[in-house]
Order: sequence, then structure tokens, then C-alpha cells
Amino acid sequence: MSEKQKYLVTSALPYANGPLHIGHVAGAYLPADVFVRFQRLQANDVLYVCGSDEHGAPISIKAEAEGVTPRDIVDRYHDSIKKSFDGLMINFDNFSGTARAQHSKLSQEFFTNLLERGFIIQKTSKQWFDQEQNRFLADRYVEGECPHCGADGARGDQCDACGKLIDAVELKNPISKISGSTPILKSTTHWYLELQKFEDELKEWLESKKYWKENVHNFISNFLENGLIERAITRDIDWGVPVPLENAEGKVLYVWFDAPIGYISSTKEWAEKIGEPEKWKDYWLDKKTKLIHFIGKDNIIFHTIFFPSFLMEQPEDYILPYDVPANEFLNLEGQKMSTSRNWTVWVNDFLADFDGEYLRYYLAANAPENKDSDFYWKDFQTQTNNDLANVLGNLANRVFAFSNKSFEGKINQPAELSELSAKTLNSAKLLIDEIGGNYSEYKVRKASKNIIEMARLGNKYFDETKPWAEVKAGNMKEAEETLYVCSEILRLISIAFSPILPTKMLKLREMLGLGKDFTWESLDNVIGNITLNNIAPLFKKVEDAEIQKQLDRLEASKKALEVKELEHKDHIDFEDFLKVEMRVGKILKAEKIKKANKLLKVEVDFGSEKRVIVAGIAKAYKPEELIGKKVAMVLNLKPRKVMGVESQAMILAASDEDGKLSVLTLDRELPAGSEIG
Ligand code: 2FM
Ligand code: ZN
Repeated sequence: MSEKQKYLVTSALPYANGPLHIGHVAGAYLPADVFVRFQRLQANDVLYVCGSDEHGAPISIKAEAEGVTPRDIVDRYHDSIKKSFDGLMINFDNFSGTARAQHSKLSQEFFTNLLERGFIIQKTSKQWFDQEQNRFLADRYVEGECPHCGADGARGDQCDACGKLIDAVELKNPISKISGSTPILKSTTHWYLELQKFEDELKEWLESKKYWKENVHNFISNFLENGLIERAITRDIDWGVPVPLENAEGKVLYVWFDAPIGYISSTKEWAEKIGEPEKWKDYWLDKKTKLIHFIGKDNIIFHTIFFPSFLMEQPEDYILPYDVPANEFLNLEGQKMSTSRNWTVWVNDFLADFDGEYLRYYLAANAPENKDSDFYWKDFQTQTNNDLANVLGNLANRVFAFSNKSFEGKINQPAELSELSAKTLNSAKLLIDEIGGNYSEYKVRKASKNIIEMARLGNKYFDETKPWAEVKAGNMKEAEETLYVCSEILRLISIAFSPILPTKMLKLREMLGLGKDFTWESLDNVIGNITLNNIAPLFKKVEDAEIQKQLDRLEASKKALEVKELEHKDHIDFEDFLKVEMRVGKILKAEKIKKANKLLKVEVDFGSEKRVIVAGIAKAYKPEELIGKKVAMVLNLKPRKVMGVESQAMILAASDEDGKLSVLTLDRELPAGSEIG
């Protein structure tokens, strides 16, 4: 037997700033999990690590917006993401997080080593600074006019209109996307990794990677085309790994510096957990290990240029990635996925309504391996119902039902096989070879097609041999042979399909009376005599109503974003406007009015006089919340009696479509009675 191959497999660390969605799964997790399961079936030595990416500006901004700590955000989403992975049977050997102490320490060591070896320089430059928020703005948080084409809404890193890369400081009329204010240019000092010093070594190393996917090569050559330059690897935010230097207060490592080091710290954490703290070295420092990074295409440069550079200049002799099988993107219902527009399918929502293995199958069969692919709910229904229920499920059902009916669930291995039976099994074996090749080349799409083809082959053979007619004619041996051959095909499928449908295939094996432990090599055995067990349908069909529910949910996301046209009133003359007397009133007292659940009686101070007002705001405010507030009021409406109380003015309030109310208050201190206009 050939020597075991050692693999270290990683999936991109998901940002802990939101839940996991199906786009993530299709790009970086399912393909990796399938690969890992396949290599384990091949009896190879595989370690699969991941963790949540817990730094970066979006996390600190979200925390501030919610009035909680970044730690709270990170813990919330770490747990939510982990739950999604568990539900989808994406089984890491370790799932860590980059806000853990060991990770910070290791990232700081990486930084210090690069600095000491002369690959990091310090530079001062101007950057956009949001004075309201008192923070420097990362490129994607500044928007303005493109310096190249003049288009509005260009981001600090790129203009979508002309596609050109932008140096953020060149944006015209910039706006902070966080506060909406106009940022100023302010000097700041940062540390830069001199990537140009790695250029020759990187190019030579990349040259040896002829077997990498074409999309990955294309990305890299575009990036290398203009030559490498130094890149800032520190940021001015208060959430991240502190820069390990004395003169670096308030500076943290750039999230893309520390994140990939998370693969190593997660491996170290794993080694400690199993009580062999040095064991991580067996993977990271052994040249025989194949390191494979599963990622989405937006992460290519970080894994093929940045991270390898960090690894090259460390005192330890780290291995470099053996392969980076990056995937393209998954669209939803023909549109780009967008978490901010809620145009996605959240994994935890999916799992509340469907079996996780249905998602594994659909995403495997439609994996965005070489180009973007699509998730359509209707197609999800059709494909899972057809392939799983009607083809594979049907083969299992008819074989098992017939065996039970005519053979009491016991099928014996025939002494000899007919020509058709032998030919059928031979075709199945050929498909197995193809499936193995496809799995090892990360072609999960093709592998799933091959497997369904194998189930089709079984159905076709069953139809052709007509076991029901043979039983009728008293040819029990012939009928039994058909059932045997079909069961053998099902056994092959139970192994070949297990990387994609792990628990369903265990169920299938249980029904066939087979054990839980099996290897790819065991495909060469035969099933032998069979005693069927606990027969039950393998797949339940996805119903129309279940799909409609999902489509309705998406429709609601779309609606939520539709901006309603404003309905305008007729123009009025300025003189007419001046007729309205509006002033600031300070609320002195407020109380409920009996038998009127919407109304409050409010006493208001206008400086030189006090008035009583009846206001329809009891549903929005408790009386005590209003005391002391300074609110915009209209004073010269004719007084009128409401519920027996004379109302002598009107409180101005804004309301949304659902009737949610807010009184209009001041944002600067002014005396009661001040005029509004
Ligand atoms: O794009 C992302 O979701 C990043 N959080 C991936 C990080 S991968 C790695 F290097 F850690
Ligand atoms: Zn432009």
C-alpha cells in the first residue's frame, strides 16, 4: 500500500460580523468538507482547521451602532456560525477564533519577525478622518466622486462605474459612509510590508504551481502585472491585535495580516486540546504536508501573495500552500447576493425548514467551480426531488420493497452473473474511478453528476431485467440476481456519495445491513449475501408550499428596500407659511386622559406663558418620558376641545408608514419659546 498522504486543509475564516449564508458554504466550506471526507476515505492523514475571523472595522462599527462591545458581536456570530456548520455537517477538527490570546501572540510574533528581518517599514501619510466619529476611515467607508471618470458614489478603493482602482485620498467631495459627514485628511503613521522584496521568490514559487486552477492563475497574473509595492499592515482602530511596539498606541494589525495566521493558531489550539502541544509542527513544518486553502475568489491574493510572504520570512520553516482551489460566487435567483439587502439564504433559516443534506447536494451539484453559479429555489426543489427522490430514492425503494415482498429481505450473492449484470457492474466501477478522480481534483459538481448517473444505471438495469416478470414466471434466481446487482450498486453509491451526503449514506448502509466503517478501498469488495434492515424512504420530496414560503421571504426583502414615492401637496406662498406660528415648548407635565388610550394631556412652557395641549402620542410615549423635553409646536391653530380638555397648541411629530411616532426635539440647547421657521 502506498504511503499515507498528509493534508492540512483550511477553509477561509468567516467574519464574525454576521450569520453564515449559502454563498459562503458554496465557496469555501462544502468543497473543503467534501474533499476532507474523500481523503479520509482514502485513508489519508487529514487535519481540517478553521475559526472565526474576529477583527476588522465592520465588527467595531457594528458594536458601536448596537451599543455593545466588539466581543459581544464576535461571540454572538461565532456561535451562530458554528451552529450553521454543525447543522450542515461541516466538521472541522478545530474551529477557533482570532480574538483569542494565543492567536494575538502568534500574529505579533509574525510581525516582529518580519520587522526584524527588514521587511517592514514605517511611513506617514494622509488618510480620511471622520471628525464626528473620531476615527480614520477604511477605504470602503469613504465615498465620493471618482477622480478618473467623475462618477458619483465611487468607493475609496474602487469605482464601480469605470472599474478603476482609486487611491482613496484622491476622491472628490468625500462623504463618510459611517456618519454622513465630510471627512478631513489627517496624517497618520503605519507599518508597511515591502511586498516587492518577495517578488522574485513569489514568482518562482508560483511558477511551480502549473496545476492550479485557471481562475486562480488569472487573478494572480493581473495582480503581479504592475509589480508589487509596499502595503500597509496596520490600522487605526481600537479592535484588533495591538501592534507589538512601544510607539504604536491605538494601532492594530490589519485584519488581513492576522486572519491567515489564524490557520496556524487554530492548529496549535487543536494540538493543545488533544494533549500533544507540539503536534501542530507535524503539519505546518513538515515538507510532506500538502496545505490546501479553500476560499472564495475575493480572497485569492491574500492566500497566494500576502500569506506566503509572511510565511517565507519566519524562523520556523513553514510550508507554503500546495493548492488554493478558489471558487467563484453563488448568485441567488439570478441576482448577486447581498447581505445588506437581505438578498441571501441564511443557513440557520434554511436548517429550520429543510434537511441540511439537501443543501449539501444542491450546492455540490451546482458548485461555482469555474464560473459563478446560481441558487434558484424552484430549481432546488426540482433537482433535489428528481435526483435524490426520483432517481436514487426510487432505486433504493423499489429494490428494497421488492426484496421484502418476494425474498423476505434476504438476497443471496449469485454464483455467476449474466452478461448484462456483469456489464452493468462494470459500468458502475468505471463511474467510481471517475468519481474518485473528480473528488481529488475538487470537481464536486462532476462527482455528483457521476453518482446520479450510477443510480440511473441501476434503475435502467432494473427496468430491463424486469424482476417482477421473472417472479411471475417462477424464475426466482433471475429476479434475485437483479436485486443483488442493484444492491451492489447501492453499496457503491453509499461509499461514493458519502462525502456529499454523510448521514443519508449511513442510513442507506444500515438498510443494506452494512457497517459504519468503510474506506474507498472497500469499493473493490462485494456486498455478499444481504439481509435488509429497517427499511424506510431515504428522501422526502420538497413540496411547492415549502418553496413558496422561501420565495415569499425573498419578495419581502425586496419590498423592504423599495423606496415609496413621496406624495406632495400643492405649493403655498411663503407669506402663507409665515402665518404659522411655531415655537419650542418645554414639557412640564404630562398625564393620561381617562377613556382615551391614544391621548395625553400635556402642560407646556413657552417662556412667558404656559399652555395645555392634548396630543395623540400616548402609544409612543409614557407621560414621564416627556417631562423636560423641548419639542417643536404650532401655537396659532384655533383652540379646540378634545375629551373635555381645551387644546391650545399642537405638538409636531414625525411618523412612519406603520404609525411609529417621534416628537421633534432640538439638537442644541435653546430657550423655551424660541421661534421656529
Ligand atoms: O473574506 C472573508 O470572509 C475573510 N474573513 C476570510 C479570511 S480567510 C483567512 F485568511 F483567514
Ligand atoms: Zn470612475
